This record gives sequence, structure tokens and C-alpha cells, in this order.
Amino acid sequence: MTTLAIAASGLRKSYRDKSGDKVVLDGIDLAVPQGTVFSLLGPNGAGKTTTVQILSTLIRADAGQVHVAGYDVNREADDVRGAIGVTGQYSAVDKLLTGEENLLLMADLKHLPRREGRQRARELLAQFDLVDAAAKSAGTYSGGMRRRLDLAMTLVGDPRLIFLDEPTTGLDPRSRRAMWGIVRDLVKDGVTIFLTTQYLEEADELADRIALLDRGRLIAEGTAEELKRLIPGGHVLLKFADPSRLDAARLALGVGTPDPEALTLQVPSDGSVRVIRQVLAVLDEHSIEIDEMSVHTPDLDDVFLTLTGHKEALR
Ligand SMILES: Nc1ncnc2c1ncn2[C@@H]1O[C@H](COP(=O)(O)OP(=O)(O)O)[C@@H](O)[C@H]1O
Ligand SMILES: [Mg+2]
Repeated sequence: MTTLAIAASGLRKSYRDKSGDKVVLDGIDLAVPQGTVFSLLGPNGAGKTTTVQILSTLIRADAGQVHVAGYDVNREADDVRGAIGVTGQYSAVDKLLTGEENLLLMADLKHLPRREGRQRARELLAQFDLVDAAAKSAGTYSGGMRRRLDLAMTLVGDPRLIFLDEPTTGLDPRSRRAMWGIVRDLVKDGVTIFLTTQYLEEADELADRIALLDRGRLIAEGTAEELKRLIPGGHVLLKFADPSRLDAARLALGVGTPDPEALTLQVPSDGSVRVIRQVLAVLDEHSIEIDEMSVHTPDLDDVFLTLTGHKEALR
């Protein structure tokens, strides 16, 4: 059995305001196996930060069961805090301190012995490409550098479970890619990552499993491939060496849109292995040779639009 780094069921949270109770999380279930990247994907206001705050013991849910790193977030909050690292949506970096001082301060908060703290700070500055900037005040850092320092600070205590709340929102594409590389390295070391994002591409790139959060509800959950298969628009593209094979294939399959110029046949498919196997079996039966084959699934944008009916809010 795989051990779960995060197990939550029936999470609910409302805030009371002038117009009454505003439901922010409306019964969320989560299961994140150790050593995996789980992405909570949703537009602004969906409830991502609220979820992270509950899982990381910053706020309490109104209802639901939550275990993080094997501990109950309500009864064993200190144990949870000792086991996790959190990089919030809003930076924990002190702009008046240098990059190195920020890391040393964090080492102090984590009660690392002085020497060990300095050693850890040096390692992290190197790992996050901040050696040259180490002695400069963080206020002078670019957005990408500040995010890297923020994440480095989270790693001072070597947490095995890390929450990253929108780690690349507002970053330019290059800084975003750098951050993705860092996340991948952490995963290689076996760290579990709970990542929230508004970027479909980011979830697609990094996550083992993705949950789509919309207005406080999970509307779908699975691997990127599974989610893409939820909606139509996918197809298998077959390429042939000559027009006669293309025609024969069209006839044998009884479906598909031929492109005589490209010598391809586009066959509708949900991307499942079953359908692909069927297509290949039919062509094989008729001894029709294929030159190339590719499977096209719709992207996550399509999924979100189909499932929610609104995607403008998502980047
Ligand atoms: N402390 C609070 N008081 C009242 N409403 C809140 C509070 N925190 C969050 N909300 C509301 O909950 C909803 C979800 O917020 P949040 O979890 O920050 O979403 P996300 O991180 O996905 O953008 C929003 O409508 C937000 O206004
Ligand atoms: Mg947020």
C-alpha cells in the first residue's frame, strides 16, 4: 500500500460576511501519495490558498478529516508543522535583509546549530543560483530571484512535504522554467509536493495528478492524460506511404477524415489504449501498412472549459 502524504476528506470552510455565509470549500477530498507532485489547479478565488492554509495548519476547517505526513492537523498540529515546508503565495522574504541573512534567520527559526545553518545556507544559495546575490539585500532581487530565495528558505529544514502556493504566478517564462527545474530536482530527491497553480501548462508539466478546483469544489481529478480523455476532440493520426493505402484504410475503418495531400487519416478517439488497439487490429487484418501514428489528446484548457463552462479566469 502506498503511504499517503496528505489525506483529506469532507473539507469545508465558510467565511461570514455582510451578505451571510460564503462557502469557500464545499466538501473537498484529497489523497496525495508520498513522493508525488499533486497539483490543485483553479482560477483566482477557487479556494486554493484556503486549502493550503488548512493543510498546513494555518487555519482550521469547519468540517472534515485531514492527515498530513501521518498527523492529524487539529490534534497534532505541531508535528505537522515540523514535517512540512510552506512557500506561500505572498513572499516570506524580508526585503531589508540579504539573501544569505534571510536563510540564516530561517536556520535560527528551525533551531539549526550555527555552523550547520551557515553550511545549509551556502548549499542552498548555490543550488538556487543565488551565490552572486547572496550579500545583496533581497529588496534588489528580481521576481524570479525572490521566489527562488523564498523556496530556498522553505528548504532550510529539509521538509519531505512541501506546499507551493502559486510558485510561478507573475514570473516571466524563463524564471518559470527555472522554477520548474527546481521542483523537478526536489521530486527526484523523493520530496512530496502539493502545488497550486492557475497555469494549465504548469500542472501538465509537473504534476503526477491534478485536481481541478472550481468555486470550492473538485470537479475532476486524475493524471493529465486521464483528464484530457474526459472530453471529446482527441484523435489518432495515421500516416501512409501512398494514396491507395490511405483509401484502403479509410474503407476498412469506416471512419476518419482523410487528407490526401498529407497522406493522413484522422480517426476520432478518446486516446484510450483500447481504441488504438482496435484501429491497429483492423488495419492489420487488411494488411494495410502504416508509416506513422500519433495520438492527439485535447489539452487541459479544453478540459477546464468543458467541465466548468468558463475558462477566461484561467491563464
Ligand atoms: N479570511 C477571509 N475572509 C473572507 N473571505 C475569504 C478569506 N480568505 C479567502 N476568502 C475568500 O475565499 C475565496 C477563495 O479564496 P482563496 O482560497 O484565496 O482562493 P485562490 O487561492 O484559489 O485564489 C475567495 O472568494 C476569497 O475572497
Ligand atoms: Mg491563492
